[in-house]
Amino acid sequence: MKNALHITSSARGDQSHSTRLSAAVVRKLIGKNEISTLVERDLTKNPPPFFDQAMIGVFYKHPATIDEEERQLLAYADTIFQEVSNADIIVIATPIHNFGISAPLKAWIDQLIRFGVTYDYNSEGVRTGRLNHKKIYLAIASGGSLTEWPNSYEFIESYTKAVFNSYVGMTDICTFRVEGTAANNFTVDYEQIIQGL
Ligand SMILES: Cc1cc2nc3c(=O)[nH]c(=O)nc-3n(C[C@H](O)[C@H](O)[C@H](O)COP(=O)(O)O)c2cc1C
Repeated sequence: MKNALHITSSARGDQSHSTRLSAAVVRKLIGKNEISTLVERDLTKNPPPFFDQAMIGVFYKHPATIDEEERQLLAYADTIFQEVSNADIIVIATPIHNFGISAPLKAWIDQLIRFGVTYDYNSEGVRTGRLNHKKIYLAIASGGSLTEWPNSYEFIESYTKAVFNSYVGMTDICTFRVEGTAANNFTVDYEQIIQGL
């Protein structure tokens, strides 16, 4: 039995397909007794801060050199780092907005990733992620469909894999998609999308 963190990032509340799809993933994992505790974080209710100049300065300092005043700029980052550290499974929901992930999710990732915290360099100078052995489920909702665009226009799954592999150390990422939500009278069976889970 594992700890799970459920991150949602659509402003559309209970109308959100990405939230519904990710909730179906969480329900299924609970049904399979793979989750024992669940932390829910709706990034649209309590949005992550954006970087400002002072915060960027602290993010690039080695943790051992940060003083008390600077530490306060890391309050959100420290909180979500603890949440991610405590989780074995992370379920992330995002709409596609202009080919990218949602803005709150991008801000959350920017707050999570930190030199000396989520990644470091070993004695050979090779960058290594420090939060290993965790599983990510990614739930993506889009008004259109990937088949409408060149393959090179897929940015969400590829970005998520790149950023979590390189700067966090998480390599086990499983993606589910609900596509075509902009169609008239759109209906979807979320359970069917995740049937392989
Ligand atoms: C600002 C904005 C930008 C969007 N950009 C795209 C896009 O680039 N590609 C696409 O397929 N759908 C796009 N859509 C449609 C959403 O992806 C679609 O409504 C999806 O269901 C949103 O996820 P949600 O239901 O979880 O909110 C966009 C919607 C909005 C509001």
